[in-house]
This record gives sequence, C-alpha cells and structure tokens, in this order.
Amino acid sequence: MNGAPPAAPRWVWVPKAAAIAREAGARLREFFSQGVTTEYKGDVDLVTVADRTAEKLIRERLAEAFPEHGIFGEEGTRERLGGKFRWYVDPLDGTTNFAHGFPQFCVSLGLERRNEGVASDEDGTMLAAVIYDPLRDELFAAERGQGASLNERPMRVSLTPELWEALISTGFPSRKRHDNPNIHFYHEFTLRSHGVRRAGSAALDLAYVAAGRLDAFWEFNLNPWDTAAGILLVEEAGGRVSGFSGQPFRLDSREVLASNGLLHGELMGLFADMFAGRNLAPILTPQEFAQRRTARAAGTGPS
Ligand code: IPD
Ligand code: CA
Ligand code: CA
Repeated sequence: MNGAPPAAPRWVWVPKAAAIAREAGARLREFFSQGVTTEYKGDVDLVTVADRTAEKLIRERLAEAFPEHGIFGEEGTRERLGGKFRWYVDPLDGTTNFAHGFPQFCVSLGLERRNEGVASDEDGTMLAAVIYDPLRDELFAAERGQGASLNERPMRVSLTPELWEALISTGFPSRKRHDNPNIHFYHEFTLRSHGVRRAGSAALDLAYVAAGRLDAFWEFNLNPWDTAAGILLVEEAGGRVSGFSGQPFRLDSREVLASNGLLHGELMGLFADMFAGRNLAPILTPQEFAQRRTARAAGTGPS
C-alpha cells in the first residue's frame, strides 16, 4: 500500500442504471406517500400498482439506453433473453413493507453478461449492480473489478470476526412459508449473535452487508431479481457469497449466504450441524459473553 486514496471507479454501466433506479425510486416515493391499494398476485403474495408502474418505467428506460440488452423482471418482463447481456429487475423489493407503509424497500438492478456457450441453466458473470433506497436517498453501486460504493463513497464489508458479536439478517418468503425451515435457523442465530434483523427487503439486506451495516445475511428460496445486484455489491465490497455449505452461489440457487467473509466458516459450520441434526455448541450465558469480551480486550481471548 502506498497510502494513496483508492482510484475512482471507472463505471461503464452504473451511471445510466443509477439514473433509471433513481427515476423509478422517485415514482415509488410518490406512491408511498399517497398510499396504494394492495392486490394479491398469488395466494399470499402481494403486488401493487407501484410494482407494475416501476417495472414498466425501468423496462422502457433500459430499452432506450441499452436496446440490445435482455430484461428479466419480477412483474413479468421477459425480453431479449437470448442475448449477451441481461438485466435482472426487482422494481420494488419489499412490497409487503411498502403496502403496509413500513419504510424499508428499494429498486434493484443487476446486469449479467452471458457469453456464447453459457447454457440456459448456467449463470453468466454479474457485471454491474445498483440498489436504490428512495426514502433514504441511498444508492449502492458496484461493477466487477471496480469496487462498490454508497452514494459515490467507497464501501467495505465489516470486520466483525465472530458470530457472537455480529448483527445479521434473514427473510421469509410469503409463499410456501409452511415448508420453510428458516424459523429454526432464525432462532439459533438470534441466540448466538447480537441479533437477527428481518427487515423485509432481501436486496437492501445484501446492500447492508456490503456497506458493513450487517455482518451477514442468509435466506431460502429467493429469486434472481432479489439477489443479482446484491451479491455483486457484497463481493465487490470484499465479502463472500455462497450456498449454505460453501458451494458457489447461483442465481437460481434456493439458498444464499452472504457475509463479510470472516464469519463465513462459522456460519457454514452452524448450517452443517443443524442440517445434520447434530448437537450444537451451548449458547453463551451472559456471564460467558462478558468473559469473552474481557478476554478479547486483554488480548487473551479467541479474537
Ligand atoms: C421479498 C423481499 C423479502 C424476502 C422475500 C422476497 P418482494 O421480495 O425481498 O425480504 O424475504 O423472500 O420475496 O416480493 O418484496 O419483491
Ligand atoms: Ca424481491
Ligand atoms: Ca418485488
């Protein structure tokens, strides 16, 4: 290191994607302040006019900016999917929050390059990511090899080395929730950490891991539009993304584990023990917790 500040990223895709996400986010902000009628798109899945309006706007703007690029959007857009580039679009991640007036949601845009020969069930390479939180006016962005930023300032994952001092997060799908084992993991991780947030926007959860606000995130059964942008943010901010046992993450994986990297091994170990039904290490008592803190401060503890 020569002490020089990091070079400014040379964005190729982010400026246009950021402008589109900001425009869509502004529409979401208007709908949010007016209030919207909630509809059901499945048995329990919510959708609103805001989701559809934002996807239409994003679809039109992406097509103007990048006429040859494909678009794969949550609200049904499937365009030019045979080409080399593909945008994964979640026009409103956090619809349940939005519909209830709970202020935690975002726009998520992720660009994938799919070289010739990539099979339809294989991933290409994520090239660019933009996640925009319109209520906080926070724009998280990354491009492969260029690092990640929050409102144009470089961002990095946290340095928390162990779970007992970590703040982590997860989510629960609205569909198939009766089949989802996550409540057991939620329970264990809550007792073994500073806490588990369940804020209702997977894309923002991933952006927060990238920004070091959260130390890790996991969820079952997400879709490519939920994760495509967020995983690149985490990787470019110095973190790690995989399946629960460390296998490479894929956009259609039914599991994602993202962390600051330092916590990854410990989290994978817990997943492995829980899936195998093994006895877990006992949960720290408050006294043991305090002893660890004291030992660490004295330089005699585990970390
Ligand atoms: C949902 C959110 C939520 C997650 C769900 C997703 P949506 O996306 O990301 O945090 O727990 O699994 O479906 O429906 O609000 O775009
Ligand atoms: Ca989503
Ligand atoms: Ca959505």
